[in-house]
Amino acid sequence: MNEQSRQADLPYPKFAKHFNEFIGIGDNGHLWIEGRDVVELAETFGTPLYVISENQIRHSYRRFRDAWTDRYPDVEVMYANKANNGLAVRHILNHEGAGGDAFGVNEMTLALLAGADPKKTVLNGSNKGPGEIEIAILNGICINIDAMGELDLIDAESRRLGRDADVGIRVKLELKPLENRFATEMHGPGSLAEQGRNHKWGMPYAQTVDLVKRIQGMQHLHLKEISYHLSRMDNRTDDFAVMAREMVEWSAGLRDETGWTPPYLDLGGGWSFGRPEKTGPGGEDDENTPTYEEYAEAVCAAVREACAKFDLPLPRLRFECGRGLVGGAVIAVGRVGATKEWPEYDKRWVNVDLSENHLHPVLETWHYHMVCANKPDAPAEQVTDVVGPLCSPDILAKARELPLLDAGDLIALLDAGAYTESRAANFNALLRPATVMVCGAEADVTTERERFSDVVGRYRVPPRLLARSLAGQG
Ligand SMILES: Cc1ncc(COP(=O)(O)O)c(C=O)c1O
Repeated sequence: MNEQSRQADLPYPKFAKHFNEFIGIGDNGHLWIEGRDVVELAETFGTPLYVISENQIRHSYRRFRDAWTDRYPDVEVMYANKANNGLAVRHILNHEGAGGDAFGVNEMTLALLAGADPKKTVLNGSNKGPGEIEIAILNGICINIDAMGELDLIDAESRRLGRDADVGIRVKLELKPLENRFATEMHGPGSLAEQGRNHKWGMPYAQTVDLVKRIQGMQHLHLKEISYHLSRMDNRTDDFAVMAREMVEWSAGLRDETGWTPPYLDLGGGWSFGRPEKTGPGGEDDENTPTYEEYAEAVCAAVREACAKFDLPLPRLRFECGRGLVGGAVIAVGRVGATKEWPEYDKRWVNVDLSENHLHPVLETWHYHMVCANKPDAPAEQVTDVVGPLCSPDILAKARELPLLDAGDLIALLDAGAYTESRAANFNALLRPATVMVCGAEADVTTERERFSDVVGRYRVPPRLLARSLAGQG
């Protein structure tokens, strides 16, 4: 599908400068998200604030989906719910026809509550319990097995419930061609192959053969897929092609040893997007980052080539895309408070009400392009740290070139849509921000701002401690 027909029903705005399709600088010189001025949103809804562009999610989803469906006959895009668990986000992706990757019982329940299609949903997780297995079976969700013992649990639950269960297997690729490839250390030190070996997910080859043979003897269980998640250790298309080739080779091995050929290959997430202002870990994802179309070109070619080599039919492909769908659709907005200078050491600090509690916790490895929402085009006149209110250094931007900022100014961090709200924390008893979703000129709260009672309401004091404190006061 071409760009024009894909966007036919999306209200594509025209900004003086675009940061992406739906976020840019409006005619009044402020940052806009769709048809709303970010300065006005901050006044109306308060700060810190996440602002989501509904249409940017739709746009990114359609572009990601079309990149694959234009090149391959059978593709399912399954949104990785963990990237942003908001119910409204899930509803948008339901409308678009996306399936889902749910990690653990609560993500699965959230996805079900928001009406995700269970047949297009997989349950991942490295330590699944009987409760979540029961929910998955009752709703027809495919369970990706990630430990030998899980199989017995699934078998027992499905027999107890008298219901069939769809199962997949999360595999542990060896990624030998990536033995000397070094990039982002998402899973500790080492090459991409070493990192893949060192993390906890996936079943080694011999164990997957064993699992398949055992499942073949279980009347209630139906084998659906093998899955692998390379993650965003790197953004190079050829690394993802290596992963795709190994998945096909793994399928061929299973066919030869068990007679079962996986009908679905689930190729996980990690698909990046770049911007000229830079994003991604350490700002690596710039304008040279592969596009979705380039990923699809490389991976589809690798799958076809490997299928021909191993004499396999083309499998159906599934993608658990998270950051690629929602990352660029959200900005995090904070208001400037106190500023401080130490001219002798050429140091400046700008304090804001946003904190690393509200952004990706591994800030050193992530990069959010920062603009001043009330004057995004103002020239840089200082090099400053932008810091949050935590008792930790809480550095949101280190030695960043920015315009002069005064109390009351608004800063906005772009590409704050993935793993920010869903990982937000309460360190220093800080309240988590509200979220507003913008669609054209409409703006609705999709997450309420946290209240003090939400934070302290779970705390309890044993009566013996209370009694002693009260006695001390008396
Ligand atoms: C199993 C699985 N699938 C998909 C994803 C989504 O990854 P991304 O947001 O990089 O696309 C993750 C992220 O942690 C994951 O663990």
